[in-house]
Amino acid sequence: MSDTQPAKSYYERHIFFCLNQRSNGENCCADHNAQAGFDRCKARVKELGLAGPGKVRVNKAGCLDRCAAGPVAVVYPEAVWYTYVDPQDIDEIVESHLKDGKVVERLLTPPHLGR
Ligand code: FES
Repeated sequence: MSDTQPAKSYYERHIFFCLNQRSNGENCCADHNAQAGFDRCKARVKELGLAGPGKVRVNKAGCLDRCAAGPVAVVYPEAVWYTYVDPQDIDEIVESHLKDGKVVERLLTPPHLGR
């Protein structure tokens, strides 16, 4: 392999869920069912046989600094941010984006929302 070729990604897609819990009363994803979203995503990816090298990895993350839009998850390599509400949202992200590479437009995090 030449030095100019990009390395092949170990995972085809990687999704990170903010599970941050704050104890000071400030807004955080953990107060908006982030753990349930993470658990659902992990289970669905496994059920569909999408988990593993060359496929999909579902990871926990700390604060991603977009708390105002929480609960949030971000998918790489596309760097697409999602704000989800219920299990159906998670299923759609898994089946459309993680499996087929199609962005779920209706769940995109509004671009101006940060911390
Ligand atoms: S607490 Fe989730 S992005 Fe900050």
